Amino acid sequence: MPRKVNYGLDYDDGYDDYDDYDDYEDYANANDYGVKEKDLFPFPEVTEKPSWNDRSTIKVEKKTTKLALWQCSVCNSDNEQSSSSCDICGVLRDPAQNIGNGSAENVSANNTGKKAIAKFSATNEMAENSSGIISGANQLNGSESGNANIKSDAPQILASDLHQMKLDKASTNFRKAKPLAEYKPEKWMLANQDGILNQLNLAVVGHVDSGKSTLSGQLLHLLGRVSKKEMHKFEKEAKEKGKGSFAFAWATDESAEERERGITMTVAVAYFDSKKYRVVLLDSPGHKDFVPNMISGATQADAAVLVVDASIGSFEAGMDGNGFGQTKEHAQLIRSFGVEQVIVAVNKMDTVGFSKERFEFIKSQLGNFLRSCGFKESQITWIPLSAMENENLVTSATDARLSSWYEGSCLLEAVDSLQLPVRDASKPLLLPICDVIKSHSLGQVAACGKIETGAIKNGSRVLVMPLREVATVRSIERDSCPCSVARAGDNVAVSLQGIDGVHVTPGGVLCHPDYPVTVASRLELKILVLDIMGPILVGSKFEFHIHHAKEAARLVKIVSLVDQKTGEAAKKTPRFLTAKQSAIIEVALDRAVCAEEFSKHRALGRAFLRASGCTVGVGIVSKVFSDES
Ligand code: GTP
Ligand code: MG
Repeated sequence: MPRKVNYGLDYDDGYDDYDDYDDYEDYANANDYGVKEKDLFPFPEVTEKPSWNDRSTIKVEKKTTKLALWQCSVCNSDNEQSSSSCDICGVLRDPAQNIGNGSAENVSANNTGKKAIAKFSATNEMAENSSGIISGANQLNGSESGNANIKSDAPQILASDLHQMKLDKASTNFRKAKPLAEYKPEKWMLANQDGILNQLNLAVVGHVDSGKSTLSGQLLHLLGRVSKKEMHKFEKEAKEKGKGSFAFAWATDESAEERERGITMTVAVAYFDSKKYRVVLLDSPGHKDFVPNMISGATQADAAVLVVDASIGSFEAGMDGNGFGQTKEHAQLIRSFGVEQVIVAVNKMDTVGFSKERFEFIKSQLGNFLRSCGFKESQITWIPLSAMENENLVTSATDARLSSWYEGSCLLEAVDSLQLPVRDASKPLLLPICDVIKSHSLGQVAACGKIETGAIKNGSRVLVMPLREVATVRSIERDSCPCSVARAGDNVAVSLQGIDGVHVTPGGVLCHPDYPVTVASRLELKILVLDIMGPILVGSKFEFHIHHAKEAARLVKIVSLVDQKTGEAAKKTPRFLTAKQSAIIEVALDRAVCAEEFSKHRALGRAFLRASGCTVGVGIVSKVFSDES
């Protein structure tokens, strides 16, 4: 049965091989991204951090104003005395403003109209599973999920203090990292294990209800990973609950809430074998509220299946450019995770009579967008199918309405034609922790995730970051089967000993004791601003995502714009950023995270910024202001 991932995330390819920024004009042309001047609304410049449960009032500092001019309290632009609103951002002039006295003052601004991005918190929930193991579940509280609970203020502050105390302790353990050039991998790290299929981490992503879980469940069933008996049980129970059409989806949608609501909420990890690969299937949530969970799980992907719903109106909804179309947001995100190969599964073809015209229409519309995101034409495979009716999944189409015009591969063949990305086992170990499984009864803790670089074996010593605790690898599991060695690219559960379980957290990183990952709370990013409605100002708050870590962040500096043709920093330093601009910025995080410069380590150097439930920027870490230097 699949394992559920409850927390984590990661990010894309740099701007060097992420052609998106080179093809920026295509990007703009392919989309209805136009931002009208009148639609611009400013994020307030925050000078005082609001408490977790009181975000209704924030302090906005007014800067010194010049005589005969009034200065906008939000974007700081100077305006004529005669203007009643700011010429730049349109914000109304504050009648209480003390014009021209040259003094700064604090006023309160009501911010209830805008969702604070930091409305999330992670808690570890424990639940005994059938085998007596306790699964650590990190859930978003009060994020964009309408049903989530917002935690009270006090525990938040305590948790934050505790984290800080742990980091303080960690800094006393600080040992300088050895120069990378000194690292020599051992022989066992590089050798291939005979007869074992390579793991391919395959994310299944796409707009809500496009059929990702049905497709995943049907595949697992057809390939023998979900037995006939189990399938029969799902069918019976789903029918009884009036959710008959979700029977296949129940194979990966395991929780009562997911089944009740008929939506996936957290990423499910399942396995199947193709001819060439041991596939790690990451069935992601499509609902807008659960994009952070999608980021957390799907960031491990080597390749992706982007599922689109061919039915009339549904494909169009997924392509909606106003923040509701997850086909676009997911495509942009997976490209930003560094995924280069994508299979577009044009699902529910049964609802359009397996129409070739509809398939071609979808191909041309979505193809434009994918190319504008930086996917190369040769790396996109288009498959018309019906997950529900088992058409074109593991064997060629049998329905004459499809086989009469489609002669290409079925989905499973397309998976086998994907290329394995280069794995780097010759570098020191880095395993970003996606999920943590704890067993209270056995006092054990296991860190789950994909090994990005290096290798481990039973008995290896590892450093658990960011808290700098050393532990020993007790055992390793791939797809619930014990193995003695795991290398870069493997998705594993690593059971640790000699460490207190509280020190192993999702968003942390297992690394080689002599080559610790950098820990930082201030980062310089090179970002592409996505399709946002209002400008981003210094002081704007975000939800910052990097590999499986997420943290509240604030824009502290716009360093410069980036010339999208050359990728070089432009001379111009704007006061705010708008849609489709590329810029170098500095962000301050509420708490330190493990991060690396993209040029040093790609998987740990990709970052995403989200605000008000939407991804507002994707980018790379260009500089780390290490907390240890
Ligand atoms: P989220 O995870 O919540 O984003 O949804 P999802 O993409 O996983 O969709 P899911 O598999 O839960 O299916 C949503 C609905 O689409 C269900 O009612 C399915 O029965 C239906 N569905 C999925 N695939 C097909 C298909 O090939 N044809 C038809 N007609 N319906 C389908
Ligand atoms: Mg689903």
